[in-house]
Amino acid sequence: MNLSQEQKKILVAQAIKVRLNAYAPYSNFAVGAAVLADNGEIYDGANVENAAYPTTMCAERAAIFKAVSDGERSMQALAVVTQKAGYPCGACRQVLSEFSQEAIIIVANDSGEILHETTLADLLPHSFGPEDLGKELESDTHG
Ligand code: THU
Repeated sequence: MNLSQEQKKILVAQAIKVRLNAYAPYSNFAVGAAVLADNGEIYDGANVENAAYPTTMCAERAAIFKAVSDGERSMQALAVVTQKAGYPCGACRQVLSEFSQEAIIIVANDSGEILHETTLADLLPHSFGPEDLGKELESDTHG
């Protein structure tokens, strides 16, 4: 899957915009994410923290869950924006792997500069997936 420069810019811009809605009073670390689903729609998410710290939700998973809740089962790309361009955490990589192995991951800073561009397969090789449960799903992206 190839993304045009324009598509990348749009995804990053959306992640920058939604990042403004991050609820991060404990870490003061705002994250914005935007996922491009197979239907061509962009779904975004910000991190949402909680006084009970472990219940916090990452921006990437918020965006992925939004897409899946809208009926999407396959993601083409994910952009994540933090102040200094941080990669998605392990939990978010695992959740994305359920819906795409080949998704392009774009990591940008809050100025919109893309610092890293990779694929989920590179970030999470040998992931645990439905096949490990003996399941073959319609959305099976694990090969
Ligand atoms: N966070 C994300 O939203 N995405 C990540 O990939 C890593 C961490 C959030 C969780 C928490 O609200 C804050 O960043 C600090 O860990």
